[in-house]
Amino acid sequence: MKVVIMAGGKGLRFWPRSVEAMPKQFLTLTSHESMLQQTYDRFRKHMDVSDIYVVTGSSYVSLVHEQLPSLRPERLIVEPEQRDTGPSLGLTARFFLQQQLDDVLVTTPSDQYIPDDQALMAALLEAEQIAGQGESIVTLGIVPTRPETGYGYIQAASDPALGRAKRVLKFVEKPSEQRAKELIMEKDMYWNSGIFIWKPSTIDKNMKRFQPDMWSKLWSVDASFTEVYAALPKISIDYAILERAKSVYTIPVHFIWDDVGSWTSLERIYPKDEYGNLALGKVYVLETSNSIIYTDVQKVIAIGVEDLIIVSTKDGLLVCRKADEQKIKMAVNLMESDP
Ligand code: GDD
Ligand code: MG
Repeated sequence: MKVVIMAGGKGLRFWPRSVEAMPKQFLTLTSHESMLQQTYDRFRKHMDVSDIYVVTGSSYVSLVHEQLPSLRPERLIVEPEQRDTGPSLGLTARFFLQQQLDDVLVTTPSDQYIPDDQALMAALLEAEQIAGQGESIVTLGIVPTRPETGYGYIQAASDPALGRAKRVLKFVEKPSEQRAKELIMEKDMYWNSGIFIWKPSTIDKNMKRFQPDMWSKLWSVDASFTEVYAALPKISIDYAILERAKSVYTIPVHFIWDDVGSWTSLERIYPKDEYGNLALGKVYVLETSNSIIYTDVQKVIAIGVEDLIIVSTKDGLLVCRKADEQKIKMAVNLMESDP
C-alpha cells in the first residue's frame, strides 16, 4: 500500500488566512505543525518513507520540500497547473502506471484532523483488501452530525460477504442545504471522508470511462503537456468519478475526524468562551455571541454581533455570516477575477 497526499488546493474557504501563495495545507491551523506535516507524520509513523508520495502544483514544490525534508524528490508528483483533484488524480494514476506500479493507493486530502492514527491505519488495511480486488473503490465513511453542505454524502448497504464494509448505493457531492437536511435523515448515510483507497489502474479505467476527453489528454505524449494540462476542466474527483462509478464501497469509521477546510471547523477543534465565541489573537468582544474572530495583525473589537466570522490578516479583512461560509470561495474567485 502506498499513500498519495493531495496538497495542491488553494484553500480559499479559509481566506484571508489561507491565500494562494500559502494555502491552508501549509499553515499551522490546529497545532505547531502544518496540516501537511500532520498528514505526513500520521502515515510516517506506520509506513516507510519510500511509500509516501505527495501530489501538488508546480508553484508549491519548494514549500513541500521545506516542510517535508524527508520526502524523496522522486516521490513528488507535480501538476503543471491547479485543475482540482480530478485531473490531479488522473495524473497520479498515470505516474504509477508508467512505472508499471499498480499497488493499492490511499489518496488522501492534506486538510484533515485525525488524532487517532492507529484507528485510521486499521481501517486502511481493511480497505486495502477490498481495493486490491477488481476495480473496487473504497472510501472511509463518517457518521454525519449536521447537514454540512461542504462534504460528499454516501448511502451504503450492508453485505454479509463484506464484513464491516458496505456497498455504496449513492454518492452525492456537496448538496444544497435543503438536500443535506434530507440526506442526514435517510438511513445508512455517511459523509465521504475524501480518503479513497484504489489502484492506479482503477483510477485510470474510471477516468477513461467517465471522463474520456480528459483521460486521452492526460495520456497525450505531446511536448506541450503543460498547456494540455492547463486547459483541462477544473473538476473534483468526486464529481468526475465518484458520483458515477460502480463498485464503490465504504468502511464506516468512528474515530474523531474533521475537514479543517473552513473557519467553522476551528470551533469544533478549539474551546469556545461561555457565549460560544472563538477568539484567536488580540480580540476583544462585548455582547457578542457564537462568532469566530481571528486576527494576526491589528487588534479587533466586536460589539453586539452574533453568528459572524471576522478575520483580519495582512492580506485582507473578512466579515461573513457563518451560514454563508461556503460562499467565501466564490467571493475570493470574484475578487481575483477583478483586475
Ligand atoms: N494536488 C492537488 N491538486 N491537490 C488538490 C487540488 C489540486 O488541484 N485541489 C484540491 N486539492 C487538495 C486539497 O489541498 C485538499 O487537501 C484535498 O485535495 C481536498 O480538497 P478540498 O478542496 O479540501 O475538498 P473538499 O473538502 O471541498 O471536498 C472533499 O473532501 C471532503 C471531506 O474532507 C470531497 O472529497 C468531499 O466529498 C469530502 O466530503
Ligand atoms: Mg477539504
